Order: sequence, then C-alpha cells, then structure tokens
Amino acid sequence: MSQDFLSHISSVLKGIEADGLYKREREITGPQSGRIKVKGASGERQMVNLCANNYLGLADNADIRKAAAAALDEFGFGMASVRFICGTQTLHRELEHAIADYLGKDDAILFAACFDANGALFEPLLGAEDAIISDSLNHASIIDGVRLSKAKRFRYAQGDMDDLETQLKQAAADGARFKLVVTDGVFSMDGHIAKLKQICDLAERYGAIVAVDDCHATGHIGDEGRGTPDLTGVGSRVDIVTGTLGKTLGGAMGGFIAASQPIIDLLRQRARPYLFSNSLAPAVAAGSLKAIEIARAADDLRTKLGRHTTRFREGLTQAGFTLLPGETPIIPVMLGDAVLAQRMAKALDERGVYVAGFFYPVVPQGKARIRTQMSAALDDQDITFAIDAFADAGKSLGII
Ligand SMILES: Cc1ncc(COP(=O)(O)O)c(C=O)c1O
Repeated sequence: MSQDFLSHISSVLKGIEADGLYKREREITGPQSGRIKVKGASGERQMVNLCANNYLGLADNADIRKAAAAALDEFGFGMASVRFICGTQTLHRELEHAIADYLGKDDAILFAACFDANGALFEPLLGAEDAIISDSLNHASIIDGVRLSKAKRFRYAQGDMDDLETQLKQAAADGARFKLVVTDGVFSMDGHIAKLKQICDLAERYGAIVAVDDCHATGHIGDEGRGTPDLTGVGSRVDIVTGTLGKTLGGAMGGFIAASQPIIDLLRQRARPYLFSNSLAPAVAAGSLKAIEIARAADDLRTKLGRHTTRFREGLTQAGFTLLPGETPIIPVMLGDAVLAQRMAKALDERGVYVAGFFYPVVPQGKARIRTQMSAALDDQDITFAIDAFADAGKSLGII
C-alpha cells in the first residue's frame, strides 16, 4: 500500500484527535444492564450505566435469552442467505407479523438494522418526480436514505410547523407528484417528541405521506409501547413506521419498516439493503419476538422508567444543572462547551457513572452535553447514586 495514502489517513486521525473529537471505546466485560462491569487500567469496575438505549431493561432479560437459546438449537446459528434465496424461516415471518400487529399495520419487513431500513425506504418508493420533506434534526440514517433517492429534497427547521408548511407548499409549487414527510418520533439527541398531530394535519392538507422513525419510542412510549403515533393520538394517520430491534425491544440488532401491504411488497422486491444483505440470525429473530411480547405487557417497567425519568430530572434541576425540557427518558444535561462536556464525562467516570459527552458535529456548535438515558434496569438507589455523582462532579468543575 502507498505510504502517501497511510500518511494521509494518519494525518486525518491526528486532526480528529487535535479537535478533541476522537472517540475511544470502553470495554464492558459482562451483559448490558443498569449496572455494568467496565474494564479499566486497574482492573474491572462496576458502574451505573446512564447511556444505553436499554429503556425497558430487556437487553439481558432471562426469558428473551431462553427464547434465543431455544431458537439457536432449533433453527441454527445463521442463515447464510438473503431472504429471497433461502434466508426466510418461519421465525422471520412470525416476527414481521408480530411487528405489524403491534404497530397496527398490514405487514412489516425486516432489515439487519434500522440504519438499513432508513437507507432502504425512500429509493424504491419515490422517483425524481416526487419530494421528500425532512426534519433538519432527523437521524443520520434518514439523511443518508433520502440522499440515495432521486426525489427532490426539502428540509424544515426542527419541529417548525410553519416551515414544514412552507416546504410542503414549495414542493407542491414545484409540481411534485407524491410528497413524503419524514421525522424522527423522538429526537435522539434532544429527547423531544415530534409534533405528529400537526404534521399529520399538514400532510393531509397538502396530500403528503407521513413516515416516522420511532427507534427511540417503540416499546416504551405510548399504550403497550406502540410509540409516538399512539402517544400523540394519530395512530394510523402515520403511513410508515421504521424502527429498531436494537434498543427497547431486546437491544440485539435488526430494523424494520411497517406499513400497508403494497408498500411492504414493493420494498421486498426493490429495497437494496434487503435484497443484497444477509437474513437476521434466528436467535435474534426469536429473542426479538419474545421481547415484543414482553414489551406489550410491560406497564410495570414503563411506570418504573417514568418514575426514574421524573426523579432524575428533578434531582439534576434542583442541583442546578440546565436540562433540555422534555418528557422522554432521554435527558440531556447541557454544558455548552465540548471540552467541559468531556471533563464532566471523565469526572462522572471517576465517580462510577457511565455516560457519554456529545459535542459538535453530533450536536450543534456550543450545544455540547452529557446525554443521559433512563432505564428500567436501574433501581432507585442507582438514581440517587447518579444524582449525587452529578452534583459532586458538577461542583468540582464549577458547573453548579
Ligand atoms: C432515530 C434513529 N434511527 C435509526 C437508528 C439506527 O438504528 P439501528 O441501530 O437499528 O441501526 C438509530 C440508532 O442510533 C436512531 O437513533
């Protein structure tokens, strides 16, 4: 390999490091949970975990593990095939039916990840004559998926319904054949819930289709965890839902799109991440099926998650921190400066709390933060411990 090329790569890496943006991965030595064991220079440490998407705490659930282990024995380890060649087991169709039933849609289609589901959604359904109108804070996978389609792109300012209407009018004025509005259900960096009622009203007024990425909601928000369309009372007015099996629903991996039958049928024919990528592993499919069954009935876990969310918000506010307002288990502690966010993450690490600092380009310049996430795997003592650690670390750094 050319030395010039490797030197170029090394200088890019040095630039990332110099900008303070280099991400280092810490190693966890056991299962994902509310308390995790983390490898450190002086051995293994137990820490309270405030940054997993393990909202209902199902990532290490005994019944899910049992279902996955049984499928491993009955259906084998892997499929070694894409779905349409020889990669569809009864399990895959069962899981698709369970997702569709859960979200009130005709059918669902599985992907290796929601990143793939969002990458697959737009290109087969919309052409150059069509328009996609996307919230400016939408997840990276939506941005990439939109780029892969030939449809004309419009962007509206985050949650700004006047701007959404302006963009819908512009798309209509440009003669768009079909218009599709796409939004995250819960915005992962801020924890805000999309204004789905107003979005659906506007979409109906301008004849647009509505797609929602509900990765940070399915399983723990809404009745039975049916997500933001249920919570906001719009239900079936949302035409397409994309979601993940890698967060609340067991946290393994996998993504899906749920929608009406012709949409799913066309995606099975044309979606490239579906046609040209391996089938979900049987143990993941079986574990996810069990996770959906558990999540639907888990009002107790949703109540616990809500209790932690309220307590943690109140505790940090009383301690003097600035939080972004909201009602979801995503609680961003705003620090502004990227270096301060990193120092705060380190101070919390030293106090036994596992968090991650987020700064530009993941969030806008000057909006660096520690994004905390609540989980039903945490208990009340963990929340007290974490509030005390935040207060102590915040004082030591002069933040509060
Ligand atoms: C809003 C949103 N969409 C899509 C994804 C991708 O999901 P997956 O991990 O299944 O690829 C994520 C994960 O970070 C997300 O937060």
